[in-house]
Amino acid sequence: MSARTPETDVEKLTADEAAREHARLGEEIAGHDRRYYQDDAPTVSDAEYDALRRRYEAIEAAYPELRGIDSLSDKVGAAPAAKFAKVRHRVPMLSLGNAFADDDVEEFVARIRRFLGLPTDADVTFTAEPKIDGLSCSLRYENGVFVQAATRGDGFEGEDVTANVRTISEIPSRLTGEDVPAVFEVRGEVYMGHADFAAINERQSAAGRPLFANPRNAAAGSLRQLDPAITASRPLRFFAYAWGEVGEGGLPADTQFGVIKAFARWGLPTNPLTVLCHSAAELLAHYRRIGDGRAGLGYDIDGVVYKVDSLALQGRLGFVSRSPRWAIAHKFPAQRAITQLERIEIQVGRTGALTPVAKLTPITVGGVVVSNASLHNEDYIKGIGGSGEPIRGTFEDQPVDIREGDWVTIQRAGDVIPQVVDVVLERRPPEARPYSFPTVCPACGSHAVREDGEVVRRCTGGLICPAQAVERIRHFVSRDAFDIEGLGEKQVQAFHDWGLVKQPADIFTLEARDSDPSSLTRLKNRDGWGEISAKNLFAAIEERRHVPVNRFLYALGIRHVGETNAKRLMRHFLTLEALRETARAAVMPGEVHPKGNEAWAELTGIEGIGAVVAEAVVDFFQEPNNEAVLDALVREVTPEPMEAVAAATAVAGKTVVFTGALEKMTRDEAKAMAERLGAKVAGSVSKKTDYVVAGADAGSKLAKARELGVAVLSEDEWLILAGAG
Ligand code: IVH
Repeated sequence: MSARTPETDVEKLTADEAAREHARLGEEIAGHDRRYYQDDAPTVSDAEYDALRRRYEAIEAAYPELRGIDSLSDKVGAAPAAKFAKVRHRVPMLSLGNAFADDDVEEFVARIRRFLGLPTDADVTFTAEPKIDGLSCSLRYENGVFVQAATRGDGFEGEDVTANVRTISEIPSRLTGEDVPAVFEVRGEVYMGHADFAAINERQSAAGRPLFANPRNAAAGSLRQLDPAITASRPLRFFAYAWGEVGEGGLPADTQFGVIKAFARWGLPTNPLTVLCHSAAELLAHYRRIGDGRAGLGYDIDGVVYKVDSLALQGRLGFVSRSPRWAIAHKFPAQRAITQLERIEIQVGRTGALTPVAKLTPITVGGVVVSNASLHNEDYIKGIGGSGEPIRGTFEDQPVDIREGDWVTIQRAGDVIPQVVDVVLERRPPEARPYSFPTVCPACGSHAVREDGEVVRRCTGGLICPAQAVERIRHFVSRDAFDIEGLGEKQVQAFHDWGLVKQPADIFTLEARDSDPSSLTRLKNRDGWGEISAKNLFAAIEERRHVPVNRFLYALGIRHVGETNAKRLMRHFLTLEALRETARAAVMPGEVHPKGNEAWAELTGIEGIGAVVAEAVVDFFQEPNNEAVLDALVREVTPEPMEAVAAATAVAGKTVVFTGALEKMTRDEAKAMAERLGAKVAGSVSKKTDYVVAGADAGSKLAKARELGVAVLSEDEWLILAGAG
């Protein structure tokens, strides 16, 4: 937006310049109206639109001759879309003037007093109520029965959405009350609540359809469906706040507030935050109250509307161009804005998730300067869905991607971090190229992988990655891992900040480094530590130089390798070296992903270890950074045989192959039992095989065992050997 404010320097324009700018602005505003009202796809923020409109009106005020028959100031919105039947409004559906600052509200009140010839301190009563961010609709009731609904359209002619409005359960099909006029047009806002909006977008996403940018667009898109069944599936709601034609019987009250109360009696939903105020100060207080509670309302509002309460005074005040003189919309500072996305930065979270962040040309949104906004994930940038909930539009039926250099709409909702919610394609620089998401971690250079069905790409360099270090070390020393007493989250963070512990191996060199005469600050002298606590910590660390190998593996924090999978893996491999070798061998040279070789088959053949876990293990050991960290660690720590293994059983540590049809148990049960007893179960026979358990009709594996001289057992012999016979 240009730096000059909409109303300034208008008087400096020559008549010619004013005419040219008036025409240009008129065209620009008409384009925005069309995109907003007809396509539900605005390309400027409300604040930018309002500024254009104010400048347009300021020019007309200075040069009234420009206000020709075609002046936009006499129109509202856009002409109706072709697909619906048209409805001529018997009473035009006009719009409201806007107030942005407190001064504007004071001026509104003062203007009314002036117009009515009242003293400056005379009380005037107003209603104040939320300005609902939906779309206005006129509902016609004849003899209390709902007969027609129309959208606003251009204010004079709207679209016939009767069939769709019938599906809105909050809108009564009949008004109940003695005082309902014979003909009555109720006006109000159709809107969608936040929870329903989220659910609708979830459904859209699941069905692979483009998502709605915001509840207003969702409500508009839902109301203007040619098939009412679709509208019926969208939970639309309604607040009644005004009226159009009023037939025989007349209005039920002589105040705005009284009519709204009658609406409620008749069965129409009215907004509970509607109050009476008697001065600008009271209006402003209510504005702040509503603003403070805005995030918790459950639906979008974009300001507070003030209306003169007395209908007689409303009549005297009348209208000026497109809006009543007796009402004004006091807008909240814009929560959306359009700015340029300068570049996309990738941040690495504590768990290794790579999160894209939009670095923006700073802009004020709702009174706060925003220079960063969330882009959710890789798919969100591509515009192709995923649980990051892309909420952007489509262009020629293709989802729109986000590029560095793009002009984007950003949104602040409540306290949530700002989001990039749309791209203004019309302003895309010609040189902007599709963004390519990094496949290496920007924090540590390790490769970053994305699992099947996952939207998040993660760094695999967990132990080396500075972004993840604290989290990883905290896990490393936690109770079920190395269980080092005196080393909790706080201490890990402090050691990391002091540069003392950057990776797990550093824990075990801490004491040696601390007692080195060149050590600058001894631990006992640091904040929060003393002689005894330092001594205790070193002793606790010393105690953990030997740990069961399953804990060791679990402590590494490999994705999907929790305690159970660590046990499964170590029960099979027994030593870390064996696991490491197999994991390394599971990827063909030059390949990134495991292929169906023997090592891969061995990993995925382990009971309970599927492809997802196996791939995570392979990814971990393939990453050279992790290898280095591991090497440093095994220099300090000795992994011991697994805990809780029945080491005494005869089959512990033996490699067994089952072949042929077993009678007393299924193959899976046999495998599980063998592993429980500490045996390794393999899928093929080699020289390393200790026993082949052969059931009926055993074939090539039995032959191979004989050939290699491997002991062959019957099922019963195996059970006896295993102590279960
Ligand atoms: S009164 C003649 N009250 O805001 C005045 N309008 O910018 C009729 N709106 O067209 C409007 N909440 O779509 C009124 N509580 C409220 C409103 C409200 C939302 C919308 C309505 C109107 C637009 C004006």
